[in-house]
This record gives sequence, C-alpha cells and structure tokens, in this order.
Amino acid sequence: PSGALLDTRNRPLHDLRISVTDRCNFRCVYCMPKEVFGKDYAFMERDELLSFEEMTRLARVSVAHGVEKIRLTGGEPLLRKGLEELVGMLAALRTPDGREIDIALTTNGSALAHKAQALKDAGLKRVTVSLDSLDDATFQAMNDVRFPVAKVLKGIDIAHEVGLGPIKINMVMKRGQNDQDIVAMARHFKGTPYILRFIEFMDVGSSNGWEMSGVVPSAEVISRIHAELPVEEIAPNYSGETSSRWRYVDGGGEIGVISSVTQSFCHSCSRARVSTDGKLFTCLFATEGHDLRALMRGGCSDDELSGAMAAIWRQRTDNYSERRGSATGGLRASGKKRIEMSYIGG
Ligand code: GTP
Ligand code: 5AD
Ligand code: SF4
Ligand code: SF4
Repeated sequence: PSGALLDTRNRPLHDLRISVTDRCNFRCVYCMPKEVFGKDYAFMERDELLSFEEMTRLARVSVAHGVEKIRLTGGEPLLRKGLEELVGMLAALRTPDGREIDIALTTNGSALAHKAQALKDAGLKRVTVSLDSLDDATFQAMNDVRFPVAKVLKGIDIAHEVGLGPIKINMVMKRGQNDQDIVAMARHFKGTPYILRFIEFMDVGSSNGWEMSGVVPSAEVISRIHAELPVEEIAPNYSGETSSRWRYVDGGGEIGVISSVTQSFCHSCSRARVSTDGKLFTCLFATEGHDLRALMRGGCSDDELSGAMAAIWRQRTDNYSERRGSATGGLRASGKKRIEMSYIGG
C-alpha cells in the first residue's frame, strides 16, 4: 500500500503490540489479582492462540502499513514456548524501504537469565523489565507469588551483558503499596545503563480495583526525586512516546514518567494491539476487538487482510485517556466489561 495510513485523528500506525500468551507466573495486584486469576481461572486453550505463522503474517501486513516497532507482551511472553522462534521470524521483516524493525519485549524478568542469549541470537533488539520495588517484602506483596527481587535484577544484568539494550525498567506505582520506594529506585538505577520509568497505575480491565486515590501523579514523582536528585526535562525520542524524559542534572543518566492518567498521550497514540487470540484492538481501553484470527482461519488473502486492517485503522477514533478525567466514574460504570491487560498486552 502506498501513502501513510492515518486514523480519524490523523494518527499513523507505528507500533504493533502482540500479546503472545494470557498466562503469567506473577499475580501482580494491579494486573492479575489472585482473587480473580485463581486456580479456576479459564485461560485460553492452545488452539485459540495465534500461531507464530499467524502472528508473523499480521506483522508483515502491519509493516507494509507503516509499523516500525513490534513489541511482544502478555501475560508473561517468556512463558510462550519457543518464543525465540517467533522473534526470528519477525526479525526477518523489513519496512517498505528496506529497514529493520525494532523488536522489543516487555517481561517480568523472571526467565530472562535463562532466555536472554537465545532471544538476542534470534534478533530481539531490546527488553523492558517490570520491577516495582527493590525491597523484597514490598515486591513480593506486589507480585503476590513471593518472587525475589534479586532474581529479576540478575535477569536484567544478563540481558544487558548479551546486548539487549537499552534496557528500560518499568515501575508501576500504587499509593500505599510501593510509592515509598520511588526515590530508592531512582537512586539505585542512577548512573547505570538502565532507564527507569515510573508508570501511573491505570484503570485497565475490570478486576484491579482501581481508584484515583491509588494513583501517584507523575508531577509528584518528579518533585520527590528532584528534591534529592535534581532532574530536568528533555525532548522526546519520537512523537507519540509514552514517557516524558528527564535527566539528572549531574549527568547520572535519564528517567521517564508515564502519565497515562494525569496527562494523557492519546493525541499522538500510534499503537495497535493484537490479543492472544488474534483480535485487533485500537485502544488499551477498548471493549471490543476485531477478529483477525477468524479472517485468517477463514482463508482470506493477504490483500483482504491488509484491507481489513487499513479499514479498522482509518475508522479509529479512540482517545479514552483524554475523556477519562472527571468522567471516569461514568465511563467505568457504563456496564461493558473491559479487556484485561494480561489478555490485550500492556
Ligand atoms: P518504548 O518503545 O520503549 O517507548 O516502549 P513503550 O513505552 O511504548 O512500551 P512499554 O510496554 O514499556 O509501555 C510502558 C507502559 O506504558 C505500559 O505498561 C502501559 O502502562 C503504558 N502504555 C503503553 N502504551 C499505552 C497506551 O497506548 N495507552 C496508555 N494509556 N498507556 C500505555
Ligand atoms: N496500570 C499501569 N501499568 C500496568 N501494567 C500492568 N497493569 C497495569 C496498570 N493497571 C504494566 C506492567 C508492565 C506492563 C506489561 O504493563 O507493569 O510494565
Ligand atoms: Fe504478569 Fe506483568 Fe501482569 Fe505482573 S504486570 S501479573 S508480571 S503480566
Ligand atoms: Fe492510545 Fe487508548 Fe492509550 Fe489513548 S487510552 S493512549 S488512544 S491506547
């Protein structure tokens, strides 16, 4: 296809986020709370999941429409068997003008020590690791499966050693749970090759018991850090970046804040998400996806698939975070069950 693919708000399609499994070995309280994702929770059956071939086919069509970055998410993506095979297939894709695709992975880090080298060899460029505290008691209360901090830190170091960088560390903050660790996290990662990013707790899905009082606004994060470790804002890497970037005035590197609640970035949102079972979602807060798996398994041609994706993107109007504001109660109470983050991919 020629010409950029734009939605109704003139936003191009630039990022594709593929959720490769809805399962996770953690039960983070803000994502997969145990009360909901317990022993009886019905995860997807194997034949419901997109195959690597199907994912690669969707990726190839998306790349022809302008996608330059593919992020593998979950659940915990490293739980999907043979993931490095998928990485290898995606790494062979090229943009219409012949450039490589940026292939990234968002992981909880638990299996990184084992898998980093194979992923790197397959063509993965970089990883982003979720880590919510450096204090074992706090971290384990958040992951709710007693996973130790040290193992995640080890995974991060190994990923760095094999060349999967720049590595970003994502910390979701929940007030009263881990916000006392904000400055300690900043101090720990200052002067390292790792870019720490603070994420406002969002009202995704319907099961994490979100309330505005649990959100630590980015402005507060910056002022708490700035009081001890002076920082100044710097320009974004690219338009539509989720995070605002700040650097330590003394040259200790950079941090980021992702203000999905207090300063929405919908105006430049260029992300599409494919769920574990092959539905295309044009917003993290969508209630319904477009079933691309049905199209593919029904025997559609590449042209038909491409046309379907283009039509979906052209009609896109999403701007949930802009509308959330004070209306949040109303939007949330609207009855429809929203999609869980573990299914659609963070
Ligand atoms: P980079 O390529 O490194 O810039 O990654 P990224 O920030 O696009 O991806 P990452 O998975 O690290 O996203 C970090 C967090 O930002 C996610 O876990 C979400 O909490 C939030 N986020 C990412 N994309 C969106 C989005 O489109 N909308 C909203 N509201 N939040 C998002
Ligand atoms: N709010 C903000 N970020 C979240 N993540 C998961 N659930 C939420 C939420 N409710 C983040 C994880 C990880 C990525 C997969 O999404 O911490 O960085
Ligand atoms: Fe698993 Fe990541 Fe969700 Fe935590 S945030 S439960 S590690 S998918
Ligand atoms: Fe994009 Fe929806 Fe997030 Fe806005 S709320 S930034 S439209 S995914």
